[in-house]
Amino acid sequence: MIGIEQEQDQAPKLSPQLDYRYEGIAKVTGKAKYAAEFDGPFPKADLAYAYIVQATIPAGTVESMDIAAASKAPGVIAVMTPFNAPKLNQGPPQPPARRSLTLLQNKDVAYNGQPIALVIAKTLDQAREAASLVKTTYAPQPPKLQWEKRLGEARWPKNPGKDPADNHRGDIQAAFKKASVVVDNTYVTPIQFHNPMEPHATIAWWEGDKVTVYDATQYISGVKMSLAKTLNIPTDYVRVINPVVGGGFGSKGSMWSHVPLCAMAAKATNRPVKLVLEREQMFGLVGNRPSTINHIRLAAAKDGTLLGIQHDNVMNASVLEDFVEHTEDVAKKLYQSGANSVTAKVVEANLGVSTFMRAPGESSGTAVFEIAMDEMAEKLKMDPIEFRLKNYAEDDPAESHRPWSSKHLKECYAQGAEKFGWASRNTKPGSRAEGEWLIGQGMATATYPANRSAAQAVVRLLPGGKMFVGSGSQDLGTGTYTIMAQQAAAGLGIDPKLVEVKLGDSTLPKAPVSGGSQSAASVLPAIQDATTQLKLKLVDLALQDPKSPMHGLQAADCDVKNGKLVSKSQPGKTDDLTALIARNGNKPVEAQGSAEPGESHDAMTTQSWGAVFVEAAVNRYTGMVKVRRMVAVYDVGVLLNQKTGMNQLMGGLTWGIGFATHEHGIPDGRNGRIVNSNLAEYHVPVNLDVPAMDVSVVGIPDTKFAPTGARGVGEIGITGAAAAVANAIYNATGKRVREYPITPDKLL
Ligand code: MOS
Repeated sequence: MIGIEQEQDQAPKLSPQLDYRYEGIAKVTGKAKYAAEFDGPFPKADLAYAYIVQATIPAGTVESMDIAAASKAPGVIAVMTPFNAPKLNQGPPQPPARRSLTLLQNKDVAYNGQPIALVIAKTLDQAREAASLVKTTYAPQPPKLQWEKRLGEARWPKNPGKDPADNHRGDIQAAFKKASVVVDNTYVTPIQFHNPMEPHATIAWWEGDKVTVYDATQYISGVKMSLAKTLNIPTDYVRVINPVVGGGFGSKGSMWSHVPLCAMAAKATNRPVKLVLEREQMFGLVGNRPSTINHIRLAAAKDGTLLGIQHDNVMNASVLEDFVEHTEDVAKKLYQSGANSVTAKVVEANLGVSTFMRAPGESSGTAVFEIAMDEMAEKLKMDPIEFRLKNYAEDDPAESHRPWSSKHLKECYAQGAEKFGWASRNTKPGSRAEGEWLIGQGMATATYPANRSAAQAVVRLLPGGKMFVGSGSQDLGTGTYTIMAQQAAAGLGIDPKLVEVKLGDSTLPKAPVSGGSQSAASVLPAIQDATTQLKLKLVDLALQDPKSPMHGLQAADCDVKNGKLVSKSQPGKTDDLTALIARNGNKPVEAQGSAEPGESHDAMTTQSWGAVFVEAAVNRYTGMVKVRRMVAVYDVGVLLNQKTGMNQLMGGLTWGIGFATHEHGIPDGRNGRIVNSNLAEYHVPVNLDVPAMDVSVVGIPDTKFAPTGARGVGEIGITGAAAAVANAIYNATGKRVREYPITPDKLL
């Protein structure tokens, strides 16, 4: 059924993989320090704790605040309110790093839960207790809530501000007139909250005019830049440190209000201050994935050719800031179609600011669009894979048919179908049962852009044959440390176990936000460049060294291989790197490197692909869904590390199960409070919800994208997964649910 293309790409040289997570032992032995766990080098005894007082109305202004009782409470050092907070010169937001913040600069309340005061005390308990004593009176305004009932208020987002012309191709009306088969439905995704295990946390302390923060962030240089700008101090007066992060998922990609609030508190009290968000405070202050309502129309000819795709997306946006969840991007480029028309609009609401959440756009986009594709396949009486292959996009339909850097989605379909046993699927919905369980199978396509940015790195050859590599990147539990060690080691051909890695410190060479799945593809080429520079330096050192066997050779004749200097023309002539450094007085040799995507990137689309297959069981009496099997095959170039890479993909798939069946942030329609702001009521999958997964990669390197041949894997795992579950549930029950999450009540 599916043809395999001939592979032309050149395989890059792969570094040996570390078979353990670089920072794993430190994590499981408690030695790894997360942002809130540091107790120095600031004077530990002075450390104070800040607690955020939150608004209890969704809209209006603070009229007065009585802080007398709070100020007198035991241990209280200061109470910061809109009436006494130091004035800042905030300026407009600059996403992604700097967002619309609420820093006690005015008395406006834009959402329920917004920070309106900060209590600083000697202990956390004292700060929290005093916070409860702050008495606030408000002048409430009628709130904008229940946005889904106000769709008539939908408007274009402020940026770009109007309906972009590149969102429409061909004659969409004509396509529907010509169509033999039409799908026309509305699909809904709920508000979701990130909830990494490590909540957002900051410790800030000042030394003179300079501030240092330990901050749970995906973007140390972003926090550095944003904090400096917000506090109106030179960028170099801010240092951000963050050696490990307990997950981020996008919510830690921007600097939110608590970070400058913590720095302001430290300045005002002249103490180091720690501010940790409680789990409940993770619902509103630090972003959310907005809810989307998607009107999707597909027009097809009898043979399954897609004549037209239309996707109109409306979502909630905070009154503070437009954030657009581009679900419609999937409809633009995942398949070939005669005509194509997409729009995205927002409806304002008094809710916290929305933001990037794992695979922003593509998570929700595939979740809805891939159900529509399943519906169309069924109407056409075509196999869902066959239908997708019929409309396979051989080049990028959204970008004037420019080529993909590499696309092996057909292999994903073929290998996944084979492993899953798709051919023997029961095509009649609701007709297979095992006792009280209805069994169904479904599939969906996964996709996410392959992003890459400029990055810098530093490497050093150390005494004893060891090596150091540093870059101002972040490791969110994703494996950045591990693959940095591998890449540095590969440069000199040494054992990756001999490499010391440093990241998460803004004094290191700059790297981009660990978001958009771009860290591996950005940082590793910079390390590669740095090791190339290091090799040149080492060769130079040996040639100048009368004691080196290489002395007097031509530089062009020399190379570093397997941890040794070698002559290309005289195979016997070598020098040992350890000996070279020893003769250098044990002085390390250092080199810097940098890399960025070249101009060739403008002429192609870099994108990752996958196919997800799910077998689900639905209890016919309770409506309970159990995902029994999950098979996924990805085209992500090469996988840099089997363990950490698979971990990313499986984590994404797990979230796909949560997206499909659990996650649902519920704002109270009357007051805008998030009703289920805790992990007991905001459900995410637990071990029992997740089956053993069969995950693999096609493994064909994408060297046009990056010299490593590897595209990012942080986000693609969640894409397609929710729809595969939804389609399996339909196949099991014959009930088409178009509103996530697919909870038991919707199946009864
Ligand atoms: Mo990701 S949502 O870009 O951290």
